[in-house]
Amino acid sequence: MTKKGNTAINGNFKDKDILSLNQFSEKDLQIIFNLTTKIKKINGAKKAVNTLRGKVVTLLFYESSSRTYASFSSAIKRLGGQTIDVLDPQHFSSVSKGETLEDTVRVFETYSDAIVLRHPIEGSIGIAAECATVPVINAGDGIGEHPTQALLDLFTIYEKQKKLENLTGVLAGDLLNGRTIHSLIKGLCKYKGNTLYLLSPKELRLKRPDFLDYCRVGIKLIEIDSEKEIPGDADFWYWTRVQKERFNTIDEYKKVRNRFVVDTKLIKNKAGKNTIIMHPLPRVGEIKEEVDKDPRAVYLNDQIKNGMYLRMALLTLIFNKKL
Ligand code: NCD
Repeated sequence: MTKKGNTAINGNFKDKDILSLNQFSEKDLQIIFNLTTKIKKINGAKKAVNTLRGKVVTLLFYESSSRTYASFSSAIKRLGGQTIDVLDPQHFSSVSKGETLEDTVRVFETYSDAIVLRHPIEGSIGIAAECATVPVINAGDGIGEHPTQALLDLFTIYEKQKKLENLTGVLAGDLLNGRTIHSLIKGLCKYKGNTLYLLSPKELRLKRPDFLDYCRVGIKLIEIDSEKEIPGDADFWYWTRVQKERFNTIDEYKKVRNRFVVDTKLIKNKAGKNTIIMHPLPRVGEIKEEVDKDPRAVYLNDQIKNGMYLRMALLTLIFNKKL
């Protein structure tokens, strides 16, 4: 088995853990995007893709989830595979009796061919991957990374703007704690000429020397403090919620939530005619519902659909199956 950990994909997805955007080269991303496009065509035409027939995947979620969990679940089932669903193991499994993450992972890997794992503590997915012999896919690692979300976000930008280089984007909200933001920046820094405007309350600025160093070469990051500084010609806006569960007190959270809200007025004043409006969801007030019917808003349609197809492609590659 090829395992393990945070190793480069290097054109070969077979049995790899998926922990971070660090693992992907531009070529790896192209492989997965090409397969996603193919699967989207086939499955969109209601034809079956059975690359996971006979496979069982455990969905082990220590943190709440709607989209990521359901998206993986749907992806696996649409590929002919089956799932073991362990949601909230702190209450409904032996974890409530004090079982360690390592033991839980060892138990579930004997029942399944891969584990999709979400955990509140950054670094936990890496630890789980180390001790598992089956592939482990990071479905959200505390305030660290959320690689499959970034893959679907990159695919959506690529599909809409036909390129992933020389883009101008606005990332807004909780840049400090938002793992979707962290993975997306790592993804965008693999391409030439990208500029990202970072809009957040001062308290929630991006402060991750670990990957700011990693990204330095590839990308221009510009911190801004107000909507006034949003450039008029952005290719995408990527809004995020303030991550309430990462704050020590509710008052600290209330001080910074929803400082920046997308409404039709802001779109009229600042978005270009091809600016797509993205959000990983859930939103809790930072994009007004009046924006939903704008054709540039992709968070409740394309982004979600692409998430499922992208995960179908990724699983197909990890299990080394051909269409
Ligand atoms: C995100 C997450 O869990 O990090 N949601 C998701 O997976 N689509 C974003 C969030 O919770 O704010």
